[in-house]
Amino acid sequence: MSAPSAIRATGLTKLYGKLLAVDHVDMDVRAGTIFGLLGPNGAGKTTIIKLLTGLSDLSDGQASVAGYDVVRQPMQVKQRIGWVAAEVILDDDLSGWENLWLQAKLQRLGDWKPRAEELLRYFSLTDRREDKVKTYSTGMRKKLEIALALLHQPEVIFMDEPTIGLDASTRRSLWELITGVNREFGVTVLLTSHYIEEADALCHNISIIDQGRFIATGTPSELKGRVRSDFIELEASDGVTEELLRSVPGVAEVRTQGKAWILKVANSEETLPHLFRALGPERIRRLNVEKPSLESAFLEMTGKKIDQAGSDVHDYRKFYLNVRRSRQ
Ligand SMILES: Nc1ncnc2c1ncn2[C@@H]1O[C@H](COP(=O)(O)OP(=O)(O)OP(=O)(O)O)[C@@H](O)[C@H]1O
Ligand SMILES: [Mg+2]
Repeated sequence: MSAPSAIRATGLTKLYGKLLAVDHVDMDVRAGTIFGLLGPNGAGKTTIIKLLTGLSDLSDGQASVAGYDVVRQPMQVKQRIGWVAAEVILDDDLSGWENLWLQAKLQRLGDWKPRAEELLRYFSLTDRREDKVKTYSTGMRKKLEIALALLHQPEVIFMDEPTIGLDASTRRSLWELITGVNREFGVTVLLTSHYIEEADALCHNISIIDQGRFIATGTPSELKGRVRSDFIELEASDGVTEELLRSVPGVAEVRTQGKAWILKVANSEETLPHLFRALGPERIRRLNVEKPSLESAFLEMTGKKIDQAGSDVHDYRKFYLNVRRSRQ
Protein backbone atom coordinates (compact mmCIF):
# COMPACT_ATOMS: atom_id res chain seq x y z
CA MET A 1 0.00 0.00 0.00
CA SER A 2 1.30 3.45 -0.77
CA ALA A 3 1.85 6.02 2.00
CA PRO A 4 -1.13 8.18 2.99
CA SER A 5 -1.43 11.73 1.71
CA ALA A 6 0.23 14.43 3.78
CA ILE A 7 -1.32 17.13 1.61
CA ARG A 8 -4.39 16.80 -0.55
CA ALA A 9 -6.16 19.52 -2.46
CA THR A 10 -8.89 19.57 -5.05
CA GLY A 11 -9.90 22.62 -7.04
CA LEU A 12 -7.75 24.84 -4.81
CA THR A 13 -8.41 28.41 -5.90
CA LYS A 14 -7.46 31.92 -4.80
CA LEU A 15 -8.82 35.11 -6.25
CA TYR A 16 -7.27 38.44 -5.32
CA GLY A 17 -9.95 40.78 -6.65
CA LYS A 18 -10.08 39.82 -10.30
CA LEU A 19 -6.67 38.17 -10.30
CA LEU A 20 -6.80 34.39 -10.32
CA ALA A 21 -3.58 33.73 -8.38
CA VAL A 22 -4.31 30.00 -7.93
CA ASP A 23 -6.59 28.42 -10.48
CA HIS A 24 -8.31 25.14 -9.52
CA VAL A 25 -5.23 23.19 -8.54
CA ASP A 26 -5.29 19.52 -7.51
CA MET A 27 -2.49 18.16 -5.33
CA ASP A 28 -1.61 14.91 -3.65
CA VAL A 29 1.61 14.81 -1.67
CA ARG A 30 2.50 11.42 -0.18
CA ALA A 31 3.62 11.39 3.46
CA GLY A 32 7.38 11.23 3.84
CA THR A 33 8.25 12.77 0.48
CA ILE A 34 9.68 16.08 -0.72
CA PHE A 35 7.35 17.85 -3.11
CA GLY A 36 8.37 20.90 -5.11
CA LEU A 37 6.36 23.72 -6.62
CA LEU A 38 8.51 25.02 -9.42
CA GLY A 39 7.57 28.17 -11.25
CA PRO A 40 8.57 31.71 -12.14
CA ASN A 41 7.87 34.87 -10.13
CA GLY A 42 4.17 35.46 -9.58
CA ALA A 43 3.20 31.88 -10.54
CA GLY A 44 1.22 31.39 -7.31
CA LYS A 45 3.66 29.32 -5.23
CA THR A 46 3.56 31.39 -2.04
CA THR A 47 -0.20 31.75 -2.34
CA ILE A 48 -0.59 27.95 -2.38
CA ILE A 49 1.49 27.72 0.81
CA LYS A 50 -0.65 30.43 2.42
CA LEU A 51 -3.81 28.53 1.53
CA LEU A 52 -2.48 25.22 2.86
CA THR A 53 -1.18 26.73 6.09
CA GLY A 54 -4.35 28.66 6.84
CA LEU A 55 -2.76 32.10 6.37
CA SER A 56 -5.11 32.92 3.53
CA ASP A 57 -8.74 31.94 2.90
CA LEU A 58 -9.61 29.66 0.01
CA SER A 59 -11.80 31.22 -2.68
CA ASP A 60 -12.86 27.76 -3.81
CA GLY A 61 -11.92 24.11 -3.47
CA GLN A 62 -10.85 21.93 -0.57
CA ALA A 63 -7.58 21.05 1.07
CA SER A 64 -6.36 18.87 3.89
CA VAL A 65 -2.95 18.78 5.53
CA ALA A 66 -1.79 15.96 7.84
CA GLY A 67 -5.29 14.53 7.53
CA TYR A 68 -7.15 17.67 8.69
CA ASP A 69 -9.27 20.06 6.68
CA VAL A 70 -7.59 23.46 6.41
CA VAL A 71 -10.90 25.36 6.58
CA ARG A 72 -12.79 23.36 9.19
CA GLN A 73 -9.89 22.18 11.38
CA PRO A 74 -7.29 24.97 11.19
CA MET A 75 -5.96 24.44 14.72
CA GLN A 76 -5.28 20.74 14.15
CA VAL A 77 -3.49 21.68 10.95
CA LYS A 78 -1.39 24.40 12.63
CA GLN A 79 -0.24 21.99 15.34
CA ARG A 80 1.11 19.60 12.72
CA ILE A 81 2.87 21.95 10.33
CA GLY A 82 5.99 24.07 10.29
CA TRP A 83 6.55 27.01 8.01
CA VAL A 84 9.77 28.55 6.76
CA ALA A 85 8.96 31.86 5.09
CA ALA A 86 10.94 33.37 2.25
CA GLU A 87 11.51 36.43 4.43
CA VAL A 88 13.55 36.49 7.60
CA ILE A 89 11.53 36.01 10.76
CA LEU A 90 14.26 35.85 13.41
CA ASP A 91 14.79 38.37 16.17
CA ASP A 92 18.26 39.77 15.53
CA ASP A 93 18.83 41.03 19.06
CA LEU A 94 18.23 37.63 20.61
CA SER A 95 20.63 34.70 20.57
CA GLY A 96 19.93 31.51 18.62
CA TRP A 97 18.89 29.80 21.83
CA GLU A 98 16.62 32.71 22.84
CA ASN A 99 14.91 32.56 19.46
CA LEU A 100 14.20 28.87 20.08
CA TRP A 101 12.96 29.73 23.57
CA LEU A 102 10.65 32.39 22.15
CA GLN A 103 9.30 29.97 19.59
CA ALA A 104 8.63 27.38 22.33
CA LYS A 105 6.77 30.02 24.40
CA LEU A 106 4.70 31.18 21.42
CA GLN A 107 3.70 27.61 20.70
CA ARG A 108 3.29 26.75 24.40
CA LEU A 109 5.61 23.77 24.09
CA GLY A 110 6.39 21.78 27.20
CA ASP A 111 9.62 19.82 27.16
CA TRP A 112 11.25 21.58 24.22
CA LYS A 113 14.90 21.85 25.33
CA PRO A 114 16.16 18.37 24.34
CA ARG A 115 14.57 18.81 20.91
CA ALA A 116 16.10 22.32 20.57
CA GLU A 117 19.53 20.94 21.45
CA GLU A 118 19.15 18.12 18.95
CA LEU A 119 18.19 20.60 16.22
CA LEU A 120 21.10 22.93 17.01
CA ARG A 121 23.43 19.93 16.75
CA TYR A 122 21.87 18.81 13.49
CA PHE A 123 22.27 22.26 11.96
CA SER A 124 25.81 22.70 13.41
CA LEU A 125 24.76 25.75 15.41
CA THR A 126 25.57 24.50 18.91
CA ASP A 127 28.78 26.56 19.15
CA ARG A 128 26.92 29.72 18.25
CA ARG A 129 23.77 29.20 20.32
CA GLU A 130 24.55 32.03 22.77
CA ASP A 131 25.53 34.53 20.05
CA LYS A 132 23.08 37.15 18.89
CA VAL A 133 21.47 36.29 15.58
CA LYS A 134 22.67 39.58 14.07
CA THR A 135 26.17 38.06 14.07
CA TYR A 136 25.02 35.00 12.04
CA SER A 137 25.69 34.49 8.34
CA THR A 138 22.72 34.27 5.95
CA GLY A 139 23.09 30.47 5.77
CA MET A 140 23.13 30.18 9.59
CA ARG A 141 20.00 32.30 9.82
CA LYS A 142 18.22 30.04 7.36
CA LYS A 143 19.26 26.97 9.34
CA LEU A 144 17.97 28.52 12.56
CA GLU A 145 14.68 29.35 10.85
CA ILE A 146 14.28 25.73 9.79
CA ALA A 147 15.16 24.62 13.33
CA LEU A 148 12.41 26.92 14.71
CA ALA A 149 9.91 25.45 12.26
CA LEU A 150 10.82 21.91 13.37
CA LEU A 151 10.76 22.57 17.11
CA HIS A 152 7.22 21.31 17.72
CA GLN A 153 7.87 18.16 15.68
CA PRO A 154 5.58 18.90 12.76
CA GLU A 155 4.53 16.22 10.29
CA VAL A 156 4.68 18.57 7.34
CA ILE A 157 7.00 21.49 6.77
CA PHE A 158 6.45 24.22 4.18
CA MET A 159 9.55 25.96 2.88
CA ASP A 160 9.02 28.97 0.67
CA GLU A 161 12.15 29.43 -1.45
CA PRO A 162 14.43 28.06 1.26
CA THR A 163 17.66 28.97 -0.52
CA ILE A 164 16.81 32.40 -1.86
CA GLY A 165 19.62 34.92 -1.33
CA LEU A 166 22.18 32.20 -0.54
CA ASP A 167 25.38 31.66 -2.49
CA ALA A 168 25.77 28.45 -4.51
CA SER A 169 27.82 26.52 -1.96
CA THR A 170 25.59 27.42 1.01
CA ARG A 171 22.62 26.50 -1.14
CA ARG A 172 24.06 23.06 -1.76
CA SER A 173 24.80 22.42 1.90
CA LEU A 174 21.24 23.43 2.71
CA TRP A 175 19.97 20.89 0.15
CA GLU A 176 21.68 18.15 2.14
CA LEU A 177 20.13 19.39 5.36
CA ILE A 178 16.66 19.54 3.81
CA THR A 179 17.04 16.00 2.47
CA GLY A 180 18.14 14.98 5.97
CA VAL A 181 15.16 16.70 7.61
CA ASN A 182 12.93 14.64 5.35
CA ARG A 183 14.78 11.35 5.90
CA GLU A 184 15.99 11.52 9.47
CA PHE A 185 13.14 13.47 11.04
CA GLY A 186 10.55 11.78 8.78
CA VAL A 187 8.98 15.13 7.85
CA THR A 188 7.05 15.66 4.61
CA VAL A 189 8.45 18.72 2.86
CA LEU A 190 6.65 21.04 0.47
CA LEU A 191 9.04 23.56 -0.97
CA THR A 192 8.83 26.22 -3.61
CA SER A 193 11.63 27.19 -5.89
CA HIS A 194 12.41 28.78 -9.16
CA TYR A 195 15.78 27.10 -9.29
CA ILE A 196 15.43 24.16 -11.64
CA GLU A 197 18.49 22.34 -10.34
CA GLU A 198 17.22 22.71 -6.79
CA ALA A 199 13.91 21.02 -7.57
CA ASP A 200 15.75 18.36 -9.55
CA ALA A 201 18.19 17.62 -6.72
CA LEU A 202 15.73 17.64 -3.85
CA CYS A 203 12.24 16.65 -4.87
CA HIS A 204 10.64 13.24 -5.28
CA ASN A 205 7.79 14.92 -7.15
CA ILE A 206 7.40 18.30 -8.76
CA SER A 207 4.52 20.34 -10.06
CA ILE A 208 5.43 22.90 -12.65
CA ILE A 209 3.27 25.94 -12.02
CA ASP A 210 2.67 28.94 -14.22
CA GLN A 211 0.03 31.65 -13.88
CA GLY A 212 -1.76 29.82 -11.07
CA ARG A 213 -2.11 26.53 -12.93
CA PHE A 214 -0.29 23.24 -12.69
CA ILE A 215 1.17 22.58 -16.11
CA ALA A 216 2.58 19.17 -15.25
CA THR A 217 3.28 16.94 -12.25
CA GLY A 218 5.68 14.04 -11.94
CA THR A 219 9.08 12.90 -10.78
CA PRO A 220 11.97 14.95 -12.19
CA SER A 221 12.84 12.13 -14.60
CA GLU A 222 9.23 11.73 -15.76
CA LEU A 223 9.06 15.43 -16.54
CA LYS A 224 12.35 15.34 -18.41
CA GLY A 225 11.17 12.24 -20.29
CA ARG A 226 8.25 14.20 -21.74
CA VAL A 227 10.57 16.46 -23.67
CA ARG A 228 11.16 15.26 -27.18
CA SER A 229 13.07 18.27 -28.47
CA ASP A 230 16.31 20.11 -27.95
CA PHE A 231 16.33 23.87 -27.69
CA ILE A 232 18.97 26.18 -29.10
CA GLU A 233 19.23 29.59 -27.50
CA LEU A 234 20.89 32.01 -29.86
CA GLU A 235 21.99 35.61 -29.75
CA ALA A 236 22.70 36.81 -33.24
CA SER A 237 23.56 40.09 -34.94
CA ASP A 238 20.76 42.45 -36.02
CA GLY A 239 20.33 41.28 -39.60
CA VAL A 240 19.13 37.80 -38.58
CA THR A 241 15.39 37.39 -39.07
CA GLU A 242 12.77 34.93 -37.92
CA GLU A 243 12.21 33.97 -41.54
CA LEU A 244 15.87 33.06 -42.00
CA LEU A 245 15.91 30.95 -38.83
CA ARG A 246 12.71 29.14 -39.83
CA SER A 247 14.31 28.18 -43.13
CA VAL A 248 17.14 26.29 -41.40
CA PRO A 249 16.59 22.51 -41.81
CA GLY A 250 15.49 20.87 -38.55
CA VAL A 251 14.11 24.04 -36.91
CA ALA A 252 10.54 23.31 -35.79
CA GLU A 253 9.72 26.55 -33.96
CA VAL A 254 11.24 29.99 -33.49
CA ARG A 255 10.49 32.28 -30.56
CA THR A 256 12.14 35.31 -29.04
CA GLN A 257 12.91 35.91 -25.43
CA GLY A 258 14.60 39.18 -24.58
CA LYS A 259 17.55 39.56 -26.90
CA ALA A 260 17.71 35.85 -27.67
CA TRP A 261 16.08 33.58 -30.19
CA ILE A 262 14.85 30.23 -28.96
CA LEU A 263 14.80 27.50 -31.60
CA LYS A 264 13.01 24.22 -30.98
CA VAL A 265 14.74 21.44 -32.91
CA ALA A 266 14.40 17.67 -33.00
CA ASN A 267 18.10 17.07 -32.71
CA SER A 268 20.60 19.83 -32.05
CA GLU A 269 23.61 17.87 -33.39
CA GLU A 270 21.93 17.61 -36.80
CA THR A 271 20.64 21.20 -36.88
CA LEU A 272 23.74 23.07 -35.69
CA PRO A 273 25.81 22.59 -38.89
CA HIS A 274 22.85 23.90 -40.95
CA LEU A 275 22.52 26.86 -38.60
CA PHE A 276 26.21 27.73 -38.91
CA ARG A 277 25.96 27.49 -42.68
CA ALA A 278 22.83 29.69 -42.85
CA LEU A 279 24.11 32.42 -40.52
CA GLY A 280 27.85 32.23 -40.81
CA PRO A 281 29.90 32.21 -37.61
CA GLU A 282 30.33 35.99 -37.61
CA ARG A 283 26.61 36.57 -37.04
CA ILE A 284 26.42 34.26 -34.01
CA ARG A 285 27.17 36.11 -30.76
CA ARG A 286 26.18 33.44 -28.23
CA LEU A 287 24.77 29.99 -28.53
CA ASN A 288 23.54 27.58 -25.91
CA VAL A 289 22.09 24.12 -26.42
CA GLU A 290 19.48 22.84 -23.98
CA LYS A 291 19.15 19.03 -24.01
CA PRO A 292 16.09 17.45 -22.34
CA SER A 293 16.13 18.74 -18.78
CA LEU A 294 13.65 20.24 -16.36
CA GLU A 295 14.53 23.59 -17.88
CA SER A 296 13.56 22.41 -21.37
CA ALA A 297 10.47 20.66 -19.96
CA PHE A 298 9.40 24.02 -18.57
CA LEU A 299 10.25 25.72 -21.84
CA GLU A 300 8.27 23.20 -23.85
CA MET A 301 5.24 23.33 -21.56
CA THR A 302 5.03 27.09 -20.98
CA GLY A 303 6.82 28.54 -23.99
CA LYS A 304 9.31 30.45 -21.83
CA LYS A 305 12.37 29.97 -19.71
CA ILE A 306 11.69 29.78 -16.01
CA ASP A 307 14.36 32.27 -15.03
CA GLN A 308 13.27 34.99 -17.44
CA ALA A 309 12.01 37.11 -14.59
CA GLY A 310 13.88 35.52 -11.74
CA SER A 311 17.58 35.95 -12.19
CA ASP A 312 19.88 35.98 -9.20
CA VAL A 313 19.99 39.76 -9.36
CA HIS A 314 16.24 39.79 -9.00
CA ASP A 315 16.40 37.32 -6.11
CA TYR A 316 18.95 39.41 -4.33
CA ARG A 317 16.80 42.55 -4.53
CA LYS A 318 13.71 40.67 -3.50
CA PHE A 319 15.53 39.08 -0.60
CA TYR A 320 16.64 42.41 0.84
CA LEU A 321 13.25 43.94 0.22
CA ASN A 322 11.77 41.14 2.28
CA VAL A 323 14.36 41.68 4.99
CA ARG A 324 13.43 45.36 5.14
CA ARG A 325 9.73 44.56 5.22
CA SER A 326 10.19 42.09 8.03
CA ARG A 327 11.98 44.73 10.08
CA GLN A 328 9.13 47.28 9.82
N1 LIG B 1 -2.08 39.85 -1.00
C1 LIG B 1 -2.16 39.93 -2.33
N2 LIG B 1 -3.03 40.76 -2.91
C2 LIG B 1 -3.16 40.84 -4.24
N3 LIG B 1 -2.45 40.08 -5.12
C3 LIG B 1 -1.59 39.23 -4.60
C4 LIG B 1 -1.37 39.10 -3.19
N4 LIG B 1 -0.43 38.15 -2.98
C5 LIG B 1 -0.06 37.72 -4.19
N5 LIG B 1 -0.74 38.35 -5.16
C6 LIG B 1 -0.62 38.12 -6.61
O1 LIG B 1 -0.87 36.74 -6.85
C7 LIG B 1 0.01 36.22 -7.84
C8 LIG B 1 0.78 35.05 -7.27
O2 LIG B 1 1.66 35.53 -6.28
P1 LIG B 1 2.60 34.59 -5.41
O3 LIG B 1 3.24 35.43 -4.38
O4 LIG B 1 1.83 33.41 -4.96
O5 LIG B 1 3.67 34.12 -6.51
P2 LIG B 1 4.99 33.27 -6.33
O6 LIG B 1 4.90 32.13 -7.28
O7 LIG B 1 5.22 32.97 -4.90
O8 LIG B 1 6.10 34.29 -6.87
P3 LIG B 1 7.60 34.56 -6.36
O9 LIG B 1 8.47 33.55 -7.06
O10 LIG B 1 7.87 35.95 -6.88
O11 LIG B 1 7.63 34.48 -4.87
C9 LIG B 1 0.88 37.38 -8.28
O12 LIG B 1 0.32 37.92 -9.44
C10 LIG B 1 0.80 38.35 -7.12
O13 LIG B 1 0.96 39.66 -7.55
MG1 LIG C 1 6.70 33.45 -3.57
